Amino acid sequence: MLIKVRRSWELKESSVTDEAHFRQRRRLLQAAAAAGVGAAMPAIARVSPPDEGRRLANLRDSRWGRDLEPTDYEDITSYNNFLELGTGKRSPARNADHLRTRPWSIRVGGECEKPGEIDIEEILRTIPQEERIYRFRCVEAWGMVVPWGGFSLAALLKRFEPTSKARYVAFETLYDPKQLPGQRRDILDWPYREGLRMDEAMHPLTMLVTGVYGVELPGQNGAPLRLIVPWKYGFKSIKSIVGIHFVDTQPRTTWSDLQPDEYGFYANVNPEVDHPRWSQKYERHIGEGLFARKHKTLGFNGYAEEVADLYKGMDLRKFF
Ligand code: MTE
Repeated sequence: MLIKVRRSWELKESSVTDEAHFRQRRRLLQAAAAAGVGAAMPAIARVSPPDEGRRLANLRDSRWGRDLEPTDYEDITSYNNFLELGTGKRSPARNADHLRTRPWSIRVGGECEKPGEIDIEEILRTIPQEERIYRFRCVEAWGMVVPWGGFSLAALLKRFEPTSKARYVAFETLYDPKQLPGQRRDILDWPYREGLRMDEAMHPLTMLVTGVYGVELPGQNGAPLRLIVPWKYGFKSIKSIVGIHFVDTQPRTTWSDLQPDEYGFYANVNPEVDHPRWSQKYERHIGEGLFARKHKTLGFNGYAEEVADLYKGMDLRKFF
C-alpha cells in the first residue's frame, strides 16, 4: 500500500489558499483605509496584487509564513536588487520592460545523463501539481514576507539525471546587454552566477520561482524563472536564469568572487555570524517603516528544523 507522507511545510489540499478570497480581503482593507478606518495599518492598506497578468496554475499553499502579513505587492516589485537593470533600488522596476521573457529557454548540462535545453512554457506545463508551492517567509537583504509561487528545483533537476560526479549545481543569469543594460557597465564580472551544493539544490524547500501573489513574476523580480533558497541570504537567489550546470567542484559565484571575506558560498542566514560591516542579529522588515522595532534574525531564517542537518559537523563561522 502506498502511503503519501505529507511534508512538514505542506498543508492539506483543503487548506489551499483561495486567491480570490485573499484579494477580496485586501480590497476590504483598502476600502477601510480609504475611509480612514485603517490608520493603524498603513502597510497593509497599500497592498494591491494585480488583477491582470498571467495567473499561476494549481498552486498549493505551504504552512510557512501563514501567520505573517505579506509585504505589499508594491514594495516587493518596486524595491529590488537586480544590478543588470540598474544599481538603484527603484531602477529595476523602471527598466524591466527592456527584458523579454518569452521565448525563454534554459540550458542544463554538465555531469548528467540527459543534458539539454528546455523551454519555460514546457516547464510550466509539465511540473506536477504536488511539486507546486506558494507563500514563503523570505528574508532578503531586507526583510520581506513574499508569497512566492513556484516549484521545487529538484523536480526540474531530476529530469536531467545528474550523475554521481554532480556534487554542486551552478546557475547563470541571461547575458544580453541590450536587454539588461546594467551589463554594459563593468561593475560585475557578468553574467551573474550562483551555486548550491547538490544536497541543498535537491532539498524540497529550494524553489524555482515563476510568480508572486499568484501571478507571473515581473521582470524586476527575476522573470521568468529565479531561484529562492528560503534559509539563505537574498544574494543566493539568482534571477532570470538561462543556465544550470552540474559540476564536481564548488562553482565560482558572483559575490563570493568579488568580496570573499564578506559573502561566503553558503550564505546561510545566521544571527551568530556578523557581516564584517554590520550585525546580522536583527533585521528590519520592509513596509513597517524605519522606526518600527527590528525583528530578531532566526537561524536558517526559521527553517532550522528542516535544513540544519545539511550542515552537521561543519564550522559555520568558517563556511559562512
Ligand atoms: N540576480 C541577478 N541576476 N542580479 C542581481 O543583481 N541580486 C540578488 C538576488 N538575485 C541579483 C540577483 C540580491 S543581492 C538580492 S537581495 C535579491 O536578488 C533581491 O531579490 P528581489 O529584488 O526579488 O527582492
